[in-house]
Amino acid sequence: MARVMATVADEGLIATEPPVDLDARAQRFRDAIEGEGLGGLWVLEEDGQVVGNSGAHESGAPGVLSLGMSILPEARGRGGGRALLEAMLEHARSRGAHKVELEVWPDNARAIALYASAGFEVEGLRRHHYRRRDGSLRSALLMASLLGGGER
Ligand SMILES: CC(C)(COP(=O)(O)OP(=O)(O)OC[C@H]1O[C@@H](n2cnc3c(N)ncnc32)[C@H](O)[C@@H]1OP(=O)(O)O)[C@@H](O)C(=O)NCCC(=O)NCCS
Repeated sequence: MARVMATVADEGLIATEPPVDLDARAQRFRDAIEGEGLGGLWVLEEDGQVVGNSGAHESGAPGVLSLGMSILPEARGRGGGRALLEAMLEHARSRGAHKVELEVWPDNARAIALYASAGFEVEGLRRHHYRRRDGSLRSALLMASLLGGGER
């Protein structure tokens, strides 16, 4: 899982910046697997190899899970992203979450199309929110999906 994240971080497609410390990242995954709470982690496997992963984390707002996912370039476009997303949505519903959210770079058309097709809507733009190591400032699109439940 750490290797998948390192590869996708090198591409600049996720918030995590390269270089990814593989040991430290693997330990964070281990901690998350052993941890308690609403969240969860998934892997996408092809021929016994982990080619993708996704995670749902408690966001800080009760009942809202933050999602993220990464798939190796050679394993994209074959339904794996949708499968990971559906697994996370099913998990969120089964744990009683009322909402899932995520952040995505505004130019990541592929990911935005996937999320939109699964019912996610744009909630806002976090302008120049992330300062990258090279000093550049990146904006992120906030997308979310309401899973149902008592709105007031
Ligand atoms: C975004 C990502 C998870 C999608 O996974 P994937 O396996 O490529 O996508 P899938 O094959 O499951 O396709 C699901 C949907 O994504 C969209 N999609 C997939 N490939 C696309 C492409 N080349 N262009 C535009 N949309 C695309 C489509 O809406 C597609 O639905 P459809 O097949 O019914 O048309 C994957 O491409 C990835 O890991 N990208 C790099 C990391 C990243 O961007 N993570 C998300 C950060 S928020």
